[in-house]
Amino acid sequence: MEKRTDYCGNIDENYLGKTVSLDGWVQRRRDLGGLIFADLRDYKGIVQLVFNNDDSEIFAKAETLRSEYVINAIGTVRSRGPKAVNPNMKTGKVEVVVEKLEILNKSKTPPFEIADNIDTTEETKLKYRYLDFRRPVMQKALRTRAQIKHSVNEYLYDNGFIDIETPNLGKSSPEGARDYLVPSRVYPGSFYALPQSPQLFKQLLMVGGFDRYFQLAHCFRDEDLRGDRQPEFTQIDLETSFMSAEEIQTVTEGLIARVMKDEKGIDVKLPFPRIEWDDAMARYGSDKPDIRFGMELQDLSDIFADSEFKVFKGAIDNGGQVKAIVVKNNADKYSRKNIDAYTEYIKRFGAKGLAWVKYNDDKLTGPVAKFITSHEDKLVERLSLENNDLVLFVADRKKVVDDALGYLRTDIAKDLNLYDPNEFAFTWVVNWPLFEYDEGIQRWTAAHHPFTMPNEEDVHYLNDGEDPHKAYAQSYDIVLNGYELGGGSIRIHDREIQEKMLKALDFTPERTNAEFGYLMDALTYGCPPHGGLAIGLDRFAMLLSGKDNIRDVIAFPKNSNATEPMTHAPARVSKEQLAELGIEVADEKE
Ligand code: AMO
Ligand code: AMP
Repeated sequence: MEKRTDYCGNIDENYLGKTVSLDGWVQRRRDLGGLIFADLRDYKGIVQLVFNNDDSEIFAKAETLRSEYVINAIGTVRSRGPKAVNPNMKTGKVEVVVEKLEILNKSKTPPFEIADNIDTTEETKLKYRYLDFRRPVMQKALRTRAQIKHSVNEYLYDNGFIDIETPNLGKSSPEGARDYLVPSRVYPGSFYALPQSPQLFKQLLMVGGFDRYFQLAHCFRDEDLRGDRQPEFTQIDLETSFMSAEEIQTVTEGLIARVMKDEKGIDVKLPFPRIEWDDAMARYGSDKPDIRFGMELQDLSDIFADSEFKVFKGAIDNGGQVKAIVVKNNADKYSRKNIDAYTEYIKRFGAKGLAWVKYNDDKLTGPVAKFITSHEDKLVERLSLENNDLVLFVADRKKVVDDALGYLRTDIAKDLNLYDPNEFAFTWVVNWPLFEYDEGIQRWTAAHHPFTMPNEEDVHYLNDGEDPHKAYAQSYDIVLNGYELGGGSIRIHDREIQEKMLKALDFTPERTNAEFGYLMDALTYGCPPHGGLAIGLDRFAMLLSGKDNIRDVIAFPKNSNATEPMTHAPARVSKEQLAELGIEVADEKE
């Protein structure tokens, strides 16, 4: 095999007259009688090869070339005829006249064309992921991901962080998502759990004096999949001792700025804006607000407290709210049918309806306008209504109102192109509640995790006889374009506070000891004040690659059914394997 001298995608006028040896895949072959053209591709790009029938042996070989054959071609670079120039390609002014051709391997016709923007199901692409990788978009996405890791490693080493690996075979812990379990052969009936994050290990590293730790940590969570969630993902995980929340945020901003500069050439403006959690919910109906556009939620409960519109008054009387968003200067784009589609959409958040009015020529119109006339002046003033504005109202419990209008806001902004898709708007969401009510399981859970420190002035809420759910926490999320990019907190380093925190989560002392005995112990041996955060590497790579699914930046992801279409994981295992583990599988019911 001849040694490669250059990459296909690099060959341009600077190579004129030179002999090059190129390896790659045949993109396509065109026969023009006595002349054959073949496009040769590697990850840097495509160059045009020319075979003429002066040399019948090479020409005959060239006639056998098919798409995705792997070849080595040696030839001389020359200019293309003026009509054949392709100004859109780096290699578009030249071609390589081939003097030696070696077919290194043949290929069957691939199940899809190796090109961007193909119309093929994701299942097929995942099944033939190794072919999918050859497409330029996939090359770019995975290379972006790798470069982010490179920048992160450099930045963190430069800032005194050291990389320490923590175990993947750990102990199941009941907080957070469902664990992936790994049966122990040595102790039948016992299981390791794969880490949901290295949270407690990194805290113990702080107790051990490591001061600044980081890890590109693999995490595993058995939860419902979404576009920005995979069962297996990677965190840029940090922990530091003796630093305040603000200092940790500053280090993180430096990290993000470095990545944005290296990968995108963008100088982000620091510091990032900070918004209190309460404000984020009030203004955006979301704890991960997309701040690239306005259309903020406006609370109208005071105005409608005495409304004759039963829908509004009823919600307020029941302790709920009436909030609205104003779609500026676009009312004419909306028919009743479009709005009905939005009404249908917000039902998934529990909303019972979507009331709306249009404002034109100092008049409100629409099916509920008649119920609002008596409050029209106040409404117009509060919302600063102008011609051609559309107002969308939801009246309900606070959570329903916020969810419905929060998601609707981002949907509408997308539909109307209200923001620049190439803008990167980072924001911190700070001062979270310590607890949140999980409506699914109907109980209070830690809003971040149970090791998060309450605000100093709120610690007393954890005392007996007080309401712990009033406490706010020293926690912070970093949000990018409406996605939760990362989150972290100052941790509890005081055993007594940690005990109270777990008690507030209904842990008995026995259970605390059984689950977290080692942590409670460590807190009594001079645990330094510490805190940290974790950024989702997959989400970061997804957003920097302009994708809306993290599968596109993960080499071998699971599909939306949590299976892997190429290897077919998960799969049944043999009886012998199960017997060795002491496991019997209850047979599936028909
Ligand atoms: P948290 O649970 O908020 O915090 O996770 C941190 C970040 O990890 C990413 N992430 C995910 N990415 C893809 N798929 C998933 N299923 C998934 N789940 C989470 C998100 C998220 O912001 N130990 C704490 C961090 C800390 O306090 O230091 C933790 O894991 O981008
Ligand atoms: P109804 O009185 O149920 O026919 O509703 C009249 C209008 O109010 C319709 O446009 C509904 O979509 C809307 N609506 C109903 N319930 C709510 C609600 N909880 N919040 C906002 N609008 C609602």
